[in-house]
Amino acid sequence: MIFLKRLEEIEEAVIIRLNSISDLRELEKLKSDYLSRKGKFSLLMKELKELPLDLRPQAGEKANQVKRKLDELFQAKAQALKEKKAPAEFIDFTLPGRKSWEGKLHPLTQVLERIVEIFYGMGFEVVKGPDIETNYYNFDALNFPQDHPARDMQDTFYLSEDLILRTHTSPVQVRVFEKKKPPVKILVPGRVYRHEAINARSFCLFYQIEGFYVDEEVTFTDLKGVLVAFVREFFGKDAELRFRASFFPFTEPSAEVDIRCIICKGEGCSVCKYRGWLEVLGAGMIDPEVFRAVGYDPERYSGYAFGLGVDRIAMSKYRVDDIRLFYENDIRFLKQF
Ligand code: FA5
Repeated sequence: MIFLKRLEEIEEAVIIRLNSISDLRELEKLKSDYLSRKGKFSLLMKELKELPLDLRPQAGEKANQVKRKLDELFQAKAQALKEKKAPAEFIDFTLPGRKSWEGKLHPLTQVLERIVEIFYGMGFEVVKGPDIETNYYNFDALNFPQDHPARDMQDTFYLSEDLILRTHTSPVQVRVFEKKKPPVKILVPGRVYRHEAINARSFCLFYQIEGFYVDEEVTFTDLKGVLVAFVREFFGKDAELRFRASFFPFTEPSAEVDIRCIICKGEGCSVCKYRGWLEVLGAGMIDPEVFRAVGYDPERYSGYAFGLGVDRIAMSKYRVDDIRLFYENDIRFLKQF
C-alpha cells in the first residue's frame, strides 16, 4: 500500500535529518516541517480518509505508531540538546554566590580547649575519666564519710545504688594515683552532672577541668602561682582574683577562687549574684587521707588540686548572662562565637 510506504519514508527522513541537527532552533523548524498543521505528516493524514474503507484501519494504526515514534524522537533530541547546552545557556555568572555555612566549635569547647592549652604549656598532661562513676571514686576515696553531711553538698543523679553520674572531675585524681607514682601533674577536662536547682549560673550538667600536681615539697604557693598565671593568661594582665577559705573533704586547707566579674566589672549583676565576684573554681592541698587510701606516703609527698568551672569562665569571657544558653543549641546564639 502506497500510503504505508509514504509513512515509512517520512519516518526515515526525520531520523536522518535529526542526526545532523545541533541546535534547538533547527529542531523546532524540522518539527514544524513534519508535524505542524501543514507539515508533511499532517498532510498525509488528510489522505487517510480517501483510502478504501477496508484499508483504513491498518493505515490508521500504522499512522498512530509513526506519530508516537516521531514525538518520542523529537522529545529525546530536544532533551539531549538542552543538556549539552546547559553550562553555557543556564549559568548566570553575575548572580551572587550561595553562602556556604562554616562549621564551628561550640563556645564551651573553644574555652575548654584554650584552658587545656594554657595548662599544657605549664607542664600538665591530659587524662580523661568516665562520666559514670562508682560511689567509691566519686565520694568514698575522696574522704567523704558515709554519714557525713559533705555528701549532701552535691546532689547526685543515681543510676543504681552504686553507679552515679559523676558530680565532679575529682574522682579521676584517685584513678590516676592508683596507677602512677609521683611526680604526677595531670589535667582532666570533662562533663559533670548535678541534680540541683537550675538558674542563670548553675545547670544540671556542666564542664569542669581538674588539675593536680603531686611531688615532694609542693606547696600552696605553687597552687596560687599556677592559678594566677592561668587567669592572667586567659583574661589578660588586669584580671583580678581572690582566694576565700572553704571546705572540701579531700583538700586541707581548701579555697574557693573568684574572679572579678567581667560582665558588670564588679558592680553587681545576676551572673555574680550582685557580689561583683564570680566563683570559678575550688582548690586546695590534697588531704593526707586521700594519699593513704592510694598508698602514697603523705610524709614524703604533698600536692595541690583544683577544679575549674568551664561554663562560668566561658560566661565571663563572652559576657553571657545565662548558662542555659550554652545548652539550648539555638543557632542564633551559637553562630556568634
Ligand atoms: C568541686 O566540684 C570540687 N571537685 C573542686 C575541687 C577540685 C576542689 C580539686 C578542691 C580540689 P565545686 O562544687 O565548688 O567544687 O565546683 C567547682 C566549680 O564548678 C565551681 O567553682 C563552679 O565554677 C562550677 N560549678 C559548680 N556547680 C555548677 C553548676 N551547677 N553549674 C555550672 N557550674 C558549676
